[in-house]
Amino acid sequence: MGNLPLFPEQASTFAGPVDTLYFVLTGLSLLFAVPVAALIIYFAIKYRRGSNADRTGAISESTAIETTWIVVPLFLALGVFGWGARLYVEMYEMPAEGMDVYIVAKQWMWKAQHPTGQREINELHVPVGQPVRLTMISQDVIHSFYVPAFRMKRDVLPGRYTTAWFEATKPGVYRLFCTEYCGTDHAIMGGSVIVMEPHQYQEWLSGRPMGIVDVIPEDQTPGDAAPPTMAMAGEALFQNLGCITCHHMDGEGPGPTLVGLLGKTVELEDGETAVADIQYIRDSILDPHAQIVEGYPPIMPTYEGQISEEELLQLVEYIAALDEGTAPSP
Ligand code: CUA
Repeated sequence: MGNLPLFPEQASTFAGPVDTLYFVLTGLSLLFAVPVAALIIYFAIKYRRGSNADRTGAISESTAIETTWIVVPLFLALGVFGWGARLYVEMYEMPAEGMDVYIVAKQWMWKAQHPTGQREINELHVPVGQPVRLTMISQDVIHSFYVPAFRMKRDVLPGRYTTAWFEATKPGVYRLFCTEYCGTDHAIMGGSVIVMEPHQYQEWLSGRPMGIVDVIPEDQTPGDAAPPTMAMAGEALFQNLGCITCHHMDGEGPGPTLVGLLGKTVELEDGETAVADIQYIRDSILDPHAQIVEGYPPIMPTYEGQISEEELLQLVEYIAALDEGTAPSP
């Protein structure tokens, strides 16, 4: 769009298709609105009271014209609907492959956690040319994660995980906004998404950042060895919170084993079933009596108030790692 700052930069795979649809919609609207407005003005002047315009021979009905103005807009509208729906599905369907990042929103900041353990605030470092899958939750009110250059926006809700994805197409620093009014400092709740070349990103991950902006989380000092991965942090929590006391790896404990749990369909006591996704795991930790697994007594205490959103995500990563058999079994 040249230097006109009306349109944000196009920096993701969605940017082009979203803009094309937007311009086609605008063009179609103009195509109908402009002639109608122009004719209203023209006829208002031509047939104003007292003008001597020719008023004979007015057509009272024409099936051909009526059919045309019904059929043509019908197909145009259906076409636009189909096109928009396809793009929507593409944006909402998470790609099977990609890099995961966990986002926790709070008044008034964005906290990001990488599975490899790096944590950042109001910044998100990602590599270019790779799908990035976000799993997001808020620890207080509703926020909304919006990166205009990626044409990507998703609400971030308390108590419920939402997911979104993007694939950046060029390195750079892009503005991140909160677009859901969330209190006093809503307007300044933002940050940057820093898109790096893959090798730069690897260096950033390994804690030897080069180039562009960088912030080292409070609990790390420069030169620190790589932080513990989320799964390792989750494993420590699993021990410290005492989960391990009941959830044995071999399934012989008072609670069900969590090995292979993620993604599994679980039989519940009331005869229902539930898919053990990330939301199920979070709910089971905070409100264990809501869904009791068939064959187990309802003895688990709630961990509400004892565990942060970040820690819940670490536990999920740990349980996911148990699935893959990559976590050392205690
Ligand atoms: Cu967070 Cu507005």
